[in-house]
Amino acid sequence: MNDARIDEIVKQVLAQLAGKGENFENSGAKNVSRVAMLTKLEHYDIKEYPIPELGDGDILVKVEGCGVCGTDAHEYKNDPFNLIPVVLGHEGTGEIIKMGKGVKKDSAGKDLHVGDKVVSCMIFKDNPDITMFDLNKQNVGGADVYGLLPDDDKHLNGWFADYIVIRGGSTIFNVSHLDLYSRILIEPCAVLIHAVERAKSTGILRFNSRVAVQGCGPIGLICIAILKTMGIANIVAIDGEENRLGFAKELGATDVVNFKSHSGIEALTNAVKEKFGGSLADFAFQCTGSPMAHSNIYKFIRNGGGLCELGFFINGGDASINPHFDICAKEITTVGSWVYTLRDYATTFDFLVSAKKIGLPLDKLITHTYPLDKINEAHQMNLSMKGLKIAIINN
Ligand SMILES: NC(=O)c1ccc[n+]([C@@H]2O[C@H](COP(=O)([O-])OP(=O)(O)OC[C@H]3O[C@@H](n4cnc5c(N)ncnc54)[C@H](O)[C@@H]3O)[C@@H](O)[C@H]2O)c1
Ligand SMILES: [Zn+2]
Repeated sequence: MNDARIDEIVKQVLAQLAGKGENFENSGAKNVSRVAMLTKLEHYDIKEYPIPELGDGDILVKVEGCGVCGTDAHEYKNDPFNLIPVVLGHEGTGEIIKMGKGVKKDSAGKDLHVGDKVVSCMIFKDNPDITMFDLNKQNVGGADVYGLLPDDDKHLNGWFADYIVIRGGSTIFNVSHLDLYSRILIEPCAVLIHAVERAKSTGILRFNSRVAVQGCGPIGLICIAILKTMGIANIVAIDGEENRLGFAKELGATDVVNFKSHSGIEALTNAVKEKFGGSLADFAFQCTGSPMAHSNIYKFIRNGGGLCELGFFINGGDASINPHFDICAKEITTVGSWVYTLRDYATTFDFLVSAKKIGLPLDKLITHTYPLDKINEAHQMNLSMKGLKIAIINN
């Protein structure tokens, strides 16, 4: 018997001793799961549903935690996806409790066992253009994600719950090597891994580039951490909140500019330039949803420089620019970035390990945690903008 097989048997025995795995039904655990269901605007109800029978390809996961995302906030306030009643939560992670007999490997070909820690990614619909790894051919608009699915007779469709049923044919990754907070941060980090890959495709972002990052919410802050982990040393962060700018420094920004301290775009541009020692940025990342911020960012970029615009996940309105001064005469190369590919997920796992190794305090991005039954408070805190990443943590 080889070592891997022995490990597998030991794991199964330990899982059974802990009342999990094949013995789940007999363990005395309640065969029901709580879910936080958004039943009307700005209101979740905690409901209980039976844990359904698993199909051959299904996986039952006990949820450990799930981040609250800007998308959840939009759904909570306005239901733009017309999903109510819905179990939200897509930045979740947990432990495999039980698997259908057809489940052997994750989407990257890694073995899966009861007790492994996992995250889900997209659910494909047999569309070869999106099943392949190059989602730039057709963005994730064609795929579904857990936590943004219409309610059905199983109900365990989102990560704001005790349990979730991952259906056969979904993407799932074994991330047992990452701690809980890192696993909760995978989804937002993948957004930035994708943005940086898009930026690299311009050929302008280099090891010794001067990089401006505008907006220091979770998205801009993770952008800074990724640039730092890549070895880019000259990063200027721009925001209007001093505490966020302070955190930008902890995550790798060389210097910061508070846009509220400078009146007019000329003064602001000069402040950014000064922080780069008298030069404009070679490359800039636009990480706010503000049209004004989009208009401003061209001014911070040198002739021949590059821009990655990723701040408008949803329609935030029109922005005005001067095509002559801002794009043509400067020969700016611009890329847009939206969501991520499966390949970016795998890169994100490596990034999280590397960021830890160089001591970046990414965990501090999760500023507030709440138990599932306090999910309404968690969402109100998220809307208040007092924290950065808010997370639901199950006991
Ligand atoms: N491309 C994608 O796939 C993707 C994915 C997720 C989120 N997003 C978008 O990224 C944006 C940022 O997300 P977040 O969670 O960090 O949001 P956030 O609201 O927490 O952060 C935005 C930050 O921008 C700052 N800001 C506002 N106006 C500014 C200005 N004129 N100059 C400089 N800073 C300014 C704010 O002070 C704030 O700190 C959102 O608009 C979101 O929709 C995009
Ligand atoms: Zn998200």
